[in-house]
Amino acid sequence: MHVTVFSAHAYEQPHLTAAAAGRHALRFVETPLSLGTAAQAAGSQAVALFTSDDASAPVLARLAELGVRYVAVRAAGHDQVDLPAAARLGLRVANVPAYSPYAVAEHAVALMLALNRRLRQADQQLRRHDYRLDGLVGFDLHGKTVGLIGCGRIGGVLAGILHGFGCRLLGYDVQPDPALSQRTGLRYVSLPELCAASDIISVHAPLSAETRHLIDADLLAQFKPGAMLINTGRGAVLDTAAALAALQSGRLGYLGLDVYEHERGLFFEDHRQEATPDPLLDKLLQQPNVLVTGHQAFLTREALGNIATTTVDHLDAWAQGQPAAHELQPAPPVLQPVCSP
Ligand code: NAI
Repeated sequence: MHVTVFSAHAYEQPHLTAAAAGRHALRFVETPLSLGTAAQAAGSQAVALFTSDDASAPVLARLAELGVRYVAVRAAGHDQVDLPAAARLGLRVANVPAYSPYAVAEHAVALMLALNRRLRQADQQLRRHDYRLDGLVGFDLHGKTVGLIGCGRIGGVLAGILHGFGCRLLGYDVQPDPALSQRTGLRYVSLPELCAASDIISVHAPLSAETRHLIDADLLAQFKPGAMLINTGRGAVLDTAAALAALQSGRLGYLGLDVYEHERGLFFEDHRQEATPDPLLDKLLQQPNVLVTGHQAFLTREALGNIATTTVDHLDAWAQGQPAAHELQPAPPVLQPVCSP
Protein backbone atom coordinates (compact mmCIF):
# COMPACT_ATOMS: atom_id res chain seq x y z
CA MET A 1 0.00 0.00 0.00
CA HIS A 2 1.19 3.57 -0.65
CA VAL A 3 1.12 5.48 2.61
CA THR A 4 1.84 9.15 3.33
CA VAL A 5 3.18 9.51 6.86
CA PHE A 6 2.54 13.06 8.09
CA SER A 7 4.45 14.64 11.02
CA ALA A 8 7.11 12.00 10.35
CA HIS A 9 9.87 12.82 12.80
CA ALA A 10 13.39 11.46 12.38
CA TYR A 11 13.18 9.54 15.67
CA GLU A 12 10.30 7.34 14.45
CA GLN A 13 11.07 6.89 10.74
CA PRO A 14 13.52 3.97 11.29
CA HIS A 15 10.96 2.15 13.46
CA LEU A 16 8.25 2.52 10.80
CA THR A 17 10.58 1.50 7.97
CA ALA A 18 11.70 -1.60 9.89
CA ALA A 19 8.12 -2.59 10.76
CA ALA A 20 6.91 -2.14 7.14
CA ALA A 21 9.75 -4.41 5.97
CA GLY A 22 9.19 -3.38 2.37
CA ARG A 23 5.50 -4.40 2.34
CA HIS A 24 4.30 -0.77 2.09
CA ALA A 25 5.70 2.25 0.27
CA LEU A 26 6.04 4.85 3.05
CA ARG A 27 6.37 8.49 2.06
CA PHE A 28 7.59 10.53 5.01
CA VAL A 29 6.39 14.13 5.20
CA GLU A 30 7.79 16.12 8.11
CA THR A 31 5.06 18.76 8.16
CA PRO A 32 1.73 18.08 9.90
CA LEU A 33 -1.41 17.28 7.95
CA SER A 34 -3.62 20.33 7.35
CA LEU A 35 -5.81 21.63 4.55
CA GLY A 36 -2.66 23.20 3.12
CA THR A 37 -0.56 20.02 3.17
CA ALA A 38 -3.22 17.37 2.43
CA ALA A 39 -2.30 17.34 -1.29
CA GLN A 40 0.92 15.54 -0.36
CA ALA A 41 -1.21 12.42 0.16
CA ALA A 42 -2.03 12.25 -3.58
CA GLY A 43 -1.43 8.70 -4.82
CA SER A 44 -1.65 7.15 -1.34
CA GLN A 45 -4.42 4.83 -0.21
CA ALA A 46 -3.57 5.48 3.43
CA VAL A 47 -2.21 8.23 5.62
CA ALA A 48 -0.49 7.75 8.96
CA LEU A 49 -1.08 10.58 11.44
CA PHE A 50 0.15 11.78 14.80
CA THR A 51 -1.46 13.97 17.47
CA SER A 52 -0.14 17.16 15.84
CA ASP A 53 -2.06 16.51 12.60
CA ASP A 54 -5.36 18.15 11.75
CA ALA A 55 -7.88 15.52 10.64
CA SER A 56 -10.96 17.72 10.93
CA ALA A 57 -13.90 17.27 8.55
CA PRO A 58 -12.63 19.55 5.72
CA VAL A 59 -9.18 17.94 5.78
CA LEU A 60 -10.67 14.43 5.73
CA ALA A 61 -12.91 15.44 2.82
CA ARG A 62 -9.82 16.61 0.91
CA LEU A 63 -8.03 13.32 1.66
CA ALA A 64 -11.05 11.32 0.46
CA GLU A 65 -11.12 13.36 -2.79
CA LEU A 66 -7.48 12.43 -3.31
CA GLY A 67 -8.33 8.73 -3.02
CA VAL A 68 -7.24 8.09 0.56
CA ARG A 69 -9.31 5.36 2.22
CA TYR A 70 -7.47 4.58 5.44
CA VAL A 71 -6.26 6.71 8.35
CA ALA A 72 -3.77 5.05 10.70
CA VAL A 73 -3.32 7.15 13.84
CA ARG A 74 0.14 6.58 15.35
CA ALA A 75 -1.05 7.46 18.85
CA ALA A 76 -3.56 6.47 21.52
CA GLY A 77 -5.37 9.82 21.65
CA HIS A 78 -7.45 10.44 18.53
CA ASP A 79 -9.27 13.68 19.37
CA GLN A 80 -7.62 15.26 16.31
CA VAL A 81 -9.71 13.02 14.00
CA ASP A 82 -13.35 13.89 13.30
CA LEU A 83 -14.66 10.32 13.50
CA PRO A 84 -18.27 11.05 12.42
CA ALA A 85 -16.89 12.88 9.35
CA ALA A 86 -14.56 9.96 8.60
CA ALA A 87 -17.48 7.52 8.81
CA ARG A 88 -19.58 9.70 6.48
CA LEU A 89 -16.70 9.83 3.98
CA GLY A 90 -16.15 6.05 4.15
CA LEU A 91 -12.66 6.49 5.64
CA ARG A 92 -11.53 3.69 7.97
CA VAL A 93 -9.62 4.93 11.03
CA ALA A 94 -7.54 2.98 13.54
CA ASN A 95 -5.37 4.07 16.47
CA VAL A 96 -2.75 2.44 18.68
CA PRO A 97 -4.62 2.25 21.98
CA ALA A 98 -1.79 0.75 24.03
CA TYR A 99 1.86 0.95 23.10
CA SER A 100 3.45 1.61 26.45
CA PRO A 101 1.33 2.91 29.29
CA TYR A 102 4.59 2.64 31.28
CA ALA A 103 6.24 5.37 29.17
CA VAL A 104 3.54 7.92 30.01
CA ALA A 105 2.98 6.87 33.62
CA GLU A 106 6.73 6.97 34.31
CA HIS A 107 6.95 10.44 32.74
CA ALA A 108 4.14 11.63 35.02
CA VAL A 109 6.21 10.39 37.97
CA ALA A 110 9.27 12.17 36.56
CA LEU A 111 7.32 15.46 36.50
CA MET A 112 6.04 14.89 40.05
CA LEU A 113 9.50 14.16 41.44
CA ALA A 114 11.25 16.93 39.50
CA LEU A 115 8.74 19.53 40.71
CA ASN A 116 8.68 18.27 44.28
CA ARG A 117 12.47 18.02 44.63
CA ARG A 118 12.99 21.27 42.66
CA LEU A 119 15.37 19.57 40.21
CA ARG A 120 15.15 22.46 37.71
CA GLN A 121 16.32 24.99 40.31
CA ALA A 122 18.85 22.57 41.82
CA ASP A 123 20.46 22.00 38.42
CA GLN A 124 20.58 25.75 37.67
CA GLN A 125 22.10 26.54 41.10
CA LEU A 126 24.75 23.85 40.79
CA ARG A 127 25.77 25.01 37.32
CA ARG A 128 26.38 28.46 38.88
CA HIS A 129 28.54 26.78 41.57
CA ASP A 130 25.91 27.62 44.19
CA TYR A 131 25.85 24.54 46.40
CA ARG A 132 23.41 25.85 49.02
CA LEU A 133 20.15 23.98 49.61
CA ASP A 134 17.94 26.98 50.34
CA GLY A 135 14.71 26.88 48.39
CA LEU A 136 15.06 23.18 47.54
CA VAL A 137 12.98 21.63 50.34
CA GLY A 138 10.59 18.97 49.03
CA PHE A 139 8.16 16.52 50.62
CA ASP A 140 7.93 12.74 50.99
CA LEU A 141 5.60 11.13 48.47
CA HIS A 142 5.13 8.34 50.97
CA GLY A 143 1.84 8.83 52.81
CA LYS A 144 0.56 11.56 50.46
CA THR A 145 -2.81 11.36 48.70
CA VAL A 146 -2.71 11.23 44.90
CA GLY A 147 -5.90 11.63 42.86
CA LEU A 148 -6.04 10.15 39.38
CA ILE A 149 -8.55 11.57 36.90
CA GLY A 150 -8.93 8.70 34.42
CA CYS A 151 -7.86 5.29 35.73
CA GLY A 152 -7.49 3.32 32.48
CA ARG A 153 -4.27 1.85 31.12
CA ILE A 154 -1.95 4.76 31.98
CA GLY A 155 -3.77 5.77 35.17
CA GLY A 156 -3.71 2.10 36.21
CA VAL A 157 0.05 1.75 35.69
CA LEU A 158 0.61 5.02 37.57
CA ALA A 159 -1.56 3.75 40.44
CA GLY A 160 0.72 0.70 40.69
CA ILE A 161 3.88 2.84 40.74
CA LEU A 162 2.49 5.23 43.35
CA HIS A 163 1.21 2.33 45.44
CA GLY A 164 4.86 1.28 45.55
CA PHE A 165 5.79 4.75 46.83
CA GLY A 166 3.33 4.29 49.70
CA CYS A 167 0.80 6.86 48.45
CA ARG A 168 -2.89 6.83 49.28
CA LEU A 169 -4.81 6.68 45.98
CA LEU A 170 -8.11 8.22 44.93
CA GLY A 171 -9.63 7.82 41.47
CA TYR A 172 -12.33 9.44 39.36
CA ASP A 173 -13.48 7.57 36.27
CA VAL A 174 -16.67 6.95 34.29
CA GLN A 175 -15.85 3.23 34.35
CA PRO A 176 -14.39 2.17 37.70
CA ASP A 177 -12.19 -0.92 37.70
CA PRO A 178 -12.65 -2.98 40.90
CA ALA A 179 -9.51 -5.01 40.10
CA LEU A 180 -7.43 -1.80 40.18
CA SER A 181 -8.85 -0.94 43.61
CA GLN A 182 -8.05 -4.47 44.78
CA ARG A 183 -4.48 -4.25 43.47
CA THR A 184 -3.52 -0.75 44.61
CA GLY A 185 -6.06 0.26 47.27
CA LEU A 186 -7.32 3.05 44.95
CA ARG A 187 -10.70 4.33 46.09
CA TYR A 188 -13.11 5.77 43.50
CA VAL A 189 -14.65 9.06 44.62
CA SER A 190 -16.45 12.02 43.09
CA LEU A 191 -14.37 14.68 41.33
CA PRO A 192 -14.91 17.35 44.05
CA GLU A 193 -13.90 14.85 46.76
CA LEU A 194 -10.78 13.90 44.81
CA CYS A 195 -9.82 17.56 44.36
CA ALA A 196 -10.39 18.47 48.02
CA ALA A 197 -8.40 15.53 49.40
CA SER A 198 -5.45 15.14 47.01
CA ASP A 199 -1.93 16.50 47.51
CA ILE A 200 -1.20 15.61 43.88
CA ILE A 201 -3.70 15.28 41.02
CA SER A 202 -2.71 13.57 37.77
CA VAL A 203 -4.83 13.68 34.61
CA HIS A 204 -5.18 10.56 32.43
CA ALA A 205 -8.67 10.94 30.91
CA PRO A 206 -9.02 11.40 27.14
CA LEU A 207 -10.10 14.71 25.63
CA SER A 208 -13.79 14.72 24.73
CA ALA A 209 -16.72 17.13 24.85
CA GLU A 210 -17.20 16.02 28.48
CA THR A 211 -13.59 16.49 29.57
CA ARG A 212 -12.73 19.75 27.73
CA HIS A 213 -11.87 22.26 30.50
CA LEU A 214 -12.94 19.68 33.08
CA ILE A 215 -10.35 21.38 35.29
CA ASP A 216 -11.45 25.02 35.24
CA ALA A 217 -11.31 27.92 37.69
CA ASP A 218 -14.23 26.51 39.73
CA LEU A 219 -12.59 23.11 40.14
CA LEU A 220 -9.14 24.59 40.82
CA ALA A 221 -10.74 26.57 43.67
CA GLN A 222 -11.69 23.21 45.22
CA PHE A 223 -8.09 21.90 45.19
CA LYS A 224 -6.25 21.49 48.47
CA PRO A 225 -4.19 24.72 48.85
CA GLY A 226 -0.70 24.19 47.45
CA ALA A 227 -1.60 20.97 45.62
CA MET A 228 0.36 19.73 42.61
CA LEU A 229 -1.36 19.22 39.25
CA ILE A 230 0.16 16.98 36.58
CA ASN A 231 -1.31 16.69 33.08
CA THR A 232 0.10 14.14 30.66
CA GLY A 233 -3.37 13.44 29.17
CA ARG A 234 -4.54 16.16 26.80
CA GLY A 235 -3.93 19.90 27.12
CA ALA A 236 -7.50 21.10 26.73
CA VAL A 237 -8.72 19.04 29.71
CA LEU A 238 -7.19 21.92 31.69
CA ASP A 239 -8.18 25.57 31.34
CA THR A 240 -4.58 26.79 31.16
CA ALA A 241 -5.33 30.47 31.82
CA ALA A 242 -7.23 29.43 34.96
CA ALA A 243 -4.26 27.29 36.04
CA LEU A 244 -1.91 30.26 35.63
CA ALA A 245 -4.21 32.39 37.79
CA ALA A 246 -4.34 29.63 40.42
CA LEU A 247 -0.53 29.46 40.44
CA GLN A 248 -0.25 33.23 40.78
CA SER A 249 -2.73 33.26 43.68
CA GLY A 250 -0.86 30.41 45.39
CA ARG A 251 -3.87 28.10 45.31
CA LEU A 252 -2.01 25.74 43.01
CA GLY A 253 1.40 24.85 44.42
CA TYR A 254 2.96 23.17 41.38
CA LEU A 255 2.05 22.50 37.77
CA GLY A 256 3.63 19.82 35.58
CA LEU A 257 2.51 19.58 31.96
CA ASP A 258 3.48 17.32 29.10
CA VAL A 259 0.50 18.45 27.04
CA TYR A 260 -0.65 22.01 26.45
CA GLU A 261 -4.02 23.35 25.38
CA HIS A 262 -2.50 25.36 22.50
CA GLU A 263 0.23 22.90 21.54
CA ARG A 264 -0.90 22.34 17.93
CA GLY A 265 1.48 24.15 15.61
CA LEU A 266 3.87 24.73 18.51
CA PHE A 267 5.07 21.45 19.97
CA PHE A 268 7.22 19.09 17.88
CA GLU A 269 8.61 22.08 15.94
CA ASP A 270 11.57 24.46 16.18
CA HIS A 271 10.32 27.99 17.00
CA ARG A 272 13.66 29.38 18.16
CA GLN A 273 13.57 32.22 15.63
CA GLU A 274 10.30 33.62 17.03
CA ALA A 275 10.47 36.03 19.98
CA THR A 276 7.26 34.89 21.68
CA PRO A 277 5.70 31.87 19.94
CA ASP A 278 3.12 31.50 22.73
CA PRO A 279 2.76 34.25 25.38
CA LEU A 280 0.62 32.11 27.73
CA LEU A 281 3.18 29.29 27.74
CA ASP A 282 5.95 31.84 28.37
CA LYS A 283 4.03 33.20 31.37
CA LEU A 284 3.65 29.68 32.72
CA LEU A 285 7.34 28.96 32.30
CA GLN A 286 8.24 32.12 34.21
CA GLN A 287 6.70 30.55 37.31
CA PRO A 288 9.33 28.73 39.41
CA ASN A 289 6.90 25.94 40.31
CA VAL A 290 6.04 24.97 36.73
CA LEU A 291 7.66 22.29 34.60
CA VAL A 292 6.59 21.72 31.00
CA THR A 293 7.76 19.08 28.53
CA GLY A 294 6.66 19.19 24.89
CA HIS A 295 4.45 16.09 24.60
CA GLN A 296 7.31 13.67 25.08
CA ALA A 297 5.77 11.33 27.66
CA PHE A 298 5.31 8.62 25.01
CA LEU A 299 8.86 8.96 23.73
CA THR A 300 10.65 5.77 24.72
CA ARG A 301 12.32 3.26 22.39
CA GLU A 302 9.83 0.60 23.47
CA ALA A 303 6.82 2.83 22.74
CA LEU A 304 8.14 3.90 19.32
CA GLY A 305 8.70 0.26 18.35
CA ASN A 306 5.23 -0.77 19.48
CA ILE A 307 3.56 2.20 17.73
CA ALA A 308 5.32 1.31 14.46
CA THR A 309 4.44 -2.39 14.69
CA THR A 310 0.76 -1.81 15.44
CA THR A 311 0.45 0.89 12.76
CA VAL A 312 1.92 -1.45 10.15
CA ASP A 313 -0.33 -4.31 11.39
CA HIS A 314 -3.29 -2.03 10.59
CA LEU A 315 -1.92 -1.28 7.11
CA ASP A 316 -1.34 -5.03 6.52
CA ALA A 317 -4.93 -5.83 7.49
CA TRP A 318 -6.39 -3.11 5.26
CA ALA A 319 -4.17 -4.16 2.34
CA GLN A 320 -5.62 -7.65 2.68
CA GLY A 321 -9.21 -6.34 2.81
CA GLN A 322 -9.51 -7.17 6.52
CA PRO A 323 -10.63 -4.91 9.37
CA ALA A 324 -7.75 -3.48 11.42
CA ALA A 325 -7.39 -4.61 15.02
CA HIS A 326 -8.14 -1.20 16.55
CA GLU A 327 -10.65 0.48 14.24
CA LEU A 328 -12.37 3.52 15.70
CA GLN A 329 -16.06 4.26 15.45
CA PRO A 330 -17.81 7.58 16.15
CA ALA A 331 -18.16 8.27 19.89
CA PRO A 332 -20.39 5.96 21.95
CA PRO A 333 -23.08 7.46 24.20
CA VAL A 334 -21.80 9.44 27.22
CA LEU A 335 -21.57 7.48 30.48
CA GLN A 336 -22.19 9.12 33.84
CA PRO A 337 -19.23 9.06 36.26
CA VAL A 338 -19.62 6.47 39.01
CA CYS A 339 -18.04 6.60 42.45
CA SER A 340 -17.96 4.01 45.20
CA PRO A 341 -19.30 5.00 48.61
P1 NAI B 1 -7.61 4.50 28.50
O1 NAI B 1 -8.74 4.54 27.54
O2 NAI B 1 -7.01 3.17 28.86
O3 NAI B 1 -8.03 5.22 29.87
C1 NAI B 1 -8.77 6.41 29.91
C2 NAI B 1 -9.67 6.35 31.14
O4 NAI B 1 -10.35 7.58 31.24
C3 NAI B 1 -10.70 5.23 31.06
O5 NAI B 1 -10.68 4.46 32.25
C4 NAI B 1 -12.01 6.00 30.89
O6 NAI B 1 -13.12 5.33 31.48
C5 NAI B 1 -11.70 7.30 31.60
N1 NAI B 1 -12.58 8.39 31.20
C6 NAI B 1 -13.13 8.64 29.99
N2 NAI B 1 -13.92 9.72 30.04
C7 NAI B 1 -13.86 10.18 31.32
C8 NAI B 1 -14.47 11.27 31.99
N3 NAI B 1 -15.33 12.10 31.37
N4 NAI B 1 -14.22 11.44 33.31
C9 NAI B 1 -13.37 10.58 33.96
N5 NAI B 1 -12.77 9.52 33.37
C10 NAI B 1 -13.01 9.33 32.06
O7 NAI B 1 -6.51 5.47 27.91
P2 NAI B 1 -4.97 5.55 28.29
O8 NAI B 1 -4.19 4.65 27.42
O9 NAI B 1 -4.83 5.41 29.76
O10 NAI B 1 -4.63 7.04 27.85
C11 NAI B 1 -5.26 8.15 28.49
C12 NAI B 1 -4.98 9.41 27.71
O11 NAI B 1 -3.60 9.74 27.82
C13 NAI B 1 -5.20 9.29 26.18
O12 NAI B 1 -6.56 9.50 25.84
C14 NAI B 1 -4.31 10.37 25.65
O13 NAI B 1 -5.07 11.56 25.52
C15 NAI B 1 -3.24 10.54 26.70
N6 NAI B 1 -1.93 10.14 26.22
C16 NAI B 1 -0.90 11.02 26.32
C17 NAI B 1 0.36 10.68 25.86
C18 NAI B 1 1.52 11.61 25.98
O14 NAI B 1 2.56 11.39 25.34
N7 NAI B 1 1.43 12.66 26.76
C19 NAI B 1 0.61 9.37 25.23
C20 NAI B 1 -0.52 8.48 25.28
C21 NAI B 1 -1.75 8.87 25.74
